[in-house]
Amino acid sequence: MEIKKRAFPRKEDSMTNPFFGKSVITIDSVSPEDARKVFAQADAMKRMRETEGATNVLLGKVMAALFYEPSSRTLTSFITSMQRLGGGFVPLNNMAVTSVAKGETIHDTARVFSSYADIIVMRHPEKGAVGEFAKFASVPVVNAGDGSGEHPTQALLDSYTIGKHFKSFEGITVGMVGDLLYGRTVHSLSKMLAKLGVKKFVFISPSELRMPKDVCEAVQKSGADMRETENLTEVISSLDVIYMTRVQKERFSDHEKYERLKLAYILTPALMDKAKKTSIVMHPLPRVGEITPDVDTDKRAIYFTEEMRNGMYVRMALIKMILTK
Ligand code: NCD
Repeated sequence: MEIKKRAFPRKEDSMTNPFFGKSVITIDSVSPEDARKVFAQADAMKRMRETEGATNVLLGKVMAALFYEPSSRTLTSFITSMQRLGGGFVPLNNMAVTSVAKGETIHDTARVFSSYADIIVMRHPEKGAVGEFAKFASVPVVNAGDGSGEHPTQALLDSYTIGKHFKSFEGITVGMVGDLLYGRTVHSLSKMLAKLGVKKFVFISPSELRMPKDVCEAVQKSGADMRETENLTEVISSLDVIYMTRVQKERFSDHEKYERLKLAYILTPALMDKAKKTSIVMHPLPRVGEITPDVDTDKRAIYFTEEMRNGMYVRMALIKMILTK
């Protein structure tokens, strides 16, 4: 079947704003239409960066970035996005040693920061904790990763990158590789891509780190074809997107198990020889050995280029949509 390639995003995608005043906790609440609106806004952000450089639309607005888990790139990406929109920020990237250490509950923290900030971006090691926090916050909360749960902004930026690259979601095969059990990025991304129209998924992981059932079910419910395998070499030639992930050391209670599984997959130039010439390699970063550095110069590797750049445009788009009509 011939797949018609439309402009990505479409013109009509920019119209109304469903994110104004809302929290973004899970990708389940983001419809494909909503995602396309973010993508259209991200395009506008990119144009603005290339022409004017920065804007003051969020002058006077303040973001509190509360990180209870280590982060450098996601935190920086949110902060620079806010700055380029003219807003201010309070970065608290060591929450575990603040009042939390004195015994403050997450509910009280939510109330306190809601009175200082217009938007709160939060990362927490426990699945569900950001959603719980949002119930007590009186300003919009954005989930920047909750344990092995979700990472909705990474899903939006990765979907945007894939859409920009292939111009269509329908005809591509997406391979998710590595720690699919604990890796929150692949949970949110698989669900988002299924909603946007991806029809073929291959989940590649060791049997102990398989994709959670609810994600598999969501993908299948969308009508997409889903296959699970342990063998990357066998399937790599069928993939358009090779989405590599790190084995999430911090989620393992059994250290030996982590050691055994940490390098279950290593993407090398030899393996890339088997991949399609038109494929792309993505990674949410940080990588810790699952892609050898000599793959970085392969033009199909876009994790330090397109994927990272788009992260800022998509986060700028989302923050602007949450804070302005
Ligand atoms: C990811 C995360 O935190 O889930 N990284 C990120 O947001 N840049 C992936 C990971 O830590 O493996």
